[in-house]
Amino acid sequence: MSQDNKKVAFVTGGNRGIGYELVKQLALKDFKVILASRDPNMCHEAAQKLKESDLDVSFVMMDVDDKESIRQAAITVNERYGRLDVLINNAGVYLDEYKRLLTMDPSILEKTMATNFFGAYHVIHSFIPLMEKQGYGRIINVSSELGAMREMSVQGTGAYKLSKLALNGLTQLVAAEIKGDIKINAVCPGWVSSDMGGPSAPRTPKQAAESILWLASIGTEGPNGGFFRDGKPIDW
Ligand SMILES: NC(=O)c1ccc[n+]([C@@H]2O[C@H](COP(=O)([O-])OP(=O)(O)OC[C@H]3O[C@@H](n4cnc5c(N)ncnc54)[C@H](OP(=O)(O)O)[C@@H]3O)[C@@H](O)[C@H]2O)c1
Repeated sequence: MSQDNKKVAFVTGGNRGIGYELVKQLALKDFKVILASRDPNMCHEAAQKLKESDLDVSFVMMDVDDKESIRQAAITVNERYGRLDVLINNAGVYLDEYKRLLTMDPSILEKTMATNFFGAYHVIHSFIPLMEKQGYGRIINVSSELGAMREMSVQGTGAYKLSKLALNGLTQLVAAEIKGDIKINAVCPGWVSSDMGGPSAPRTPKQAAESILWLASIGTEGPNGGFFRDGKPIDW
């Protein structure tokens, strides 16, 4: 159990891109942060870099495509901290830019759903008991406007779009099920310069993280089951 009263946050895909910046900013906001990553070396390196700046960051290995590794990570967080206040489902893949669903290798759709949708589902499923235990939690699903319903009538990038559409649906369904002061919301970070977004993207990971993190500290009156960009609701 955590010895002090600091809130604990957990970020998936925390070793690079938007996830790394989310870890850093949460630690700067005085959270104890657990950086989750599937690669042991990257995991260690990324957390070490932040620790050298005196930030309260630890790491856990977790592949969101692997249910057992998710289950183990939840056990580790429970043993190490005994609580979880903020959970950010950030890990994601983008494997089918402009590809058509009907001509692409179906394994691309399966892989994308496994990471972007089922990954987030299994993480929520394994970690929510930690939040229910204390009757408090803030869950943020890093989604995309490409998952909005209107995008489904535009051809191309169908695997990624469907995975984020499903993630948005999951956000609403979980919001309808959870009780107590636990809130779940989806957020689009905009087009961000990361390995996924590419170098021409207009937003930095730091700006993206800032636009996401207000959802980590909303009060009891805050939104539940919403979809936002820059603090404003987006049409599903
Ligand atoms: N960049 C954009 O313009 C943009 C726009 C809208 C939404 N988003 C969303 O923002 C989130 C972060 O994107 P990003 O731009 O930071 O992407 P990124 O730079 O490509 O980073 C993706 C992160 O996800 C991790 N990841 C992928 N598959 C994983 C798995 N099976 N298990 C654990 N971790 C896994 C990666 O880990 P490895 O290093 O091990 O691969 C990496 O840490 C994603 O959900 C993405 O869909 C991004």
